Amino acid sequence: MNIILLGPPGAGKGTQAKRLEEHYGLRQISTGDMLRAEVAAGTPLGKDAKAVMDKGLFIPDPIMIGMIKSRIAQPDCARGFILDGFPRTESQAQALDVMLAEKNMTIDAVLLLEVNSDQLVERLASRRGPDGSRRADDEPDTVRKRLKIYDEQTAPILPYYKKEGRLRRIDGMQSVEVVEQEIAKALGLEKAS
Ligand code: AP5
Repeated sequence: MNIILLGPPGAGKGTQAKRLEEHYGLRQISTGDMLRAEVAAGTPLGKDAKAVMDKGLFIPDPIMIGMIKSRIAQPDCARGFILDGFPRTESQAQALDVMLAEKNMTIDAVLLLEVNSDQLVERLASRRGPDGSRRADDEPDTVRKRLKIYDEQTAPILPYYKKEGRLRRIDGMQSVEVVEQEIAKALGLEKAS
């Protein structure tokens, strides 16, 4: 089963993708985590990406499309994957369908985590990493910019999936555990033993 998790910054995509990976054996593909790994490794892409990410802006589509194309071709994705953070633009959504069709693969469901703006700002303001640090893009002005860009560039892909009957809405305001249960129910997933 291949899934897309959509939702604004702070909606809980990463939290839920990790739980689905742990409990149901689906591989999490987080573009944010992949980019942060490039930054941490000091690669040329990481150096360019850091400045863009810190401002809350998007990395150019061709880079992100190439990154996902090579990632889903890896053997650990064969049992199913969860896209967390991709697609984020109309051209990424279209490119994804093309690259999956080339591999005779499909997206089985697109889940939208819905959380109101006040809650998103609150969650990201209090989010801390394992070392207690705050992500540079969680600074309140940058969060507001990320939310605006989500509305302008990512929300317009929702009708694309809705039209095909693939979009399912999940109330992301509930507890982490209940959100996970609702996702599992929507997908008909049973916990791996
Ligand atoms: P990315 O890392 O993907 O950031 P994002 O989409 O803005 O998502 P976040 O990680 O902020 O939030 P989330 O929805 O995963 O929520 P989380 O589970 O962490 O991308 C970062 C940057 O990389 C982008 O801005 C862009 O620059 C670049 N980028 C990435 N992909 C790209 C692409 N495809 N194209 C172009 N550029 C790209 O939860 C947030 C907080 O809330 C946590 O503290 C969590 O503990 C808490 N929480 C979660 N669920 C609940 C709940 N149910 N109740 C209470 N608290 C909760």
